[in-house]
Amino acid sequence: MNAARVRASAPGKIILFGEHAVVYGQPALAVPVTQVQATATIEPSAEGWMIDARDLGRLYRLEEAPTNNPLAAVIRLTLTHLNISLTRHVSRVTIFSTIPIASGLGSGAAVSAAIVRALSEYLGYPLTDAEVSALVFETEKLLHGTPSGIDNTVIAYQRPVYFIKGQPPIPLQVAQPFRLLIGDTGMSSPTKITVGDVRAAHEKEPERYQQLFNTIGAIANKARTIIESGDPLELGPLMNQNHDLLREMGVSSPELEALVSSARAAGALGAKLSGGGRGGNMIALVTSDAEARVRRALEEAGARRVIETTVEETTKDERRKTKEVS
Ligand code: PMV
Repeated sequence: MNAARVRASAPGKIILFGEHAVVYGQPALAVPVTQVQATATIEPSAEGWMIDARDLGRLYRLEEAPTNNPLAAVIRLTLTHLNISLTRHVSRVTIFSTIPIASGLGSGAAVSAAIVRALSEYLGYPLTDAEVSALVFETEKLLHGTPSGIDNTVIAYQRPVYFIKGQPPIPLQVAQPFRLLIGDTGMSSPTKITVGDVRAAHEKEPERYQQLFNTIGAIANKARTIIESGDPLELGPLMNQNHDLLREMGVSSPELEALVSSARAAGALGAKLSGGGRGGNMIALVTSDAEARVRRALEEAGARRVIETTVEETTKDERRKTKEVS
């Protein structure tokens, strides 16, 4: 029996290290960003299956959605996974999201994860994080072509992760908390395009790009060691190196460069673009002393929005759960 109304949320995310190289088998690190959320509500509907995308001001029938519509796709995939026919449990699916679209914060994966969670609970078969992740990955494939799987993983598990494509995610054990500012260029930049451009460039210059990917992978591994057992302030230089390599790869933009250099000049310990690039967001590592100065500098350099997030220390309880799972 299904409840009258079920609501579930999923956070945004940022990639700390390793974007793009992760598509080619290198490790990457990502953390959830709970300051932005996607929420899905499921309730009975007398008018057939309806999708109500509130922020986009769109209300439509599931049956009328084009085949590449990600919201319709994730609903269908979830019902198929649960072996439930569309003619049963006719529902209205309402989505709210505070995550900017196409900006590297995982908006698409978060909306899908919120729908999978809410729908499966509503139907009485709540799914595990691994199942949610796998279903969201299927939707990501429809949208992005060849996603590495990092977005669905960090968003479904809602924990910092060390991720290698095709392998089970490894929870990242955070030894000491650290603070990041996330600066939004305000320019939307679909990941599919930057990933496609990197693929074309890799085909043209395989050795140079392979070298860039390998160096980024080594940086991600060093960053993991620092996060798990060192001083997180040492992540700054690694962020700068990772950013320089992404710029060489051709995925930065004048707007990202302006935010990254102004954050560094105002006292950030390191700064880099995060996600697909060419637009979207950048991240800056800050101490509490420098935070207000860096925020102001980002705003003056054109950031549309600045979000502060703290990557929290892994609790004893979370460590214990990780051991039980592994
Ligand atoms: O979704 P975004 O923009 O955060 O980028 C995802 C990261 C990439 O490595 C560029 C692509 C991928 O599938 O891993």
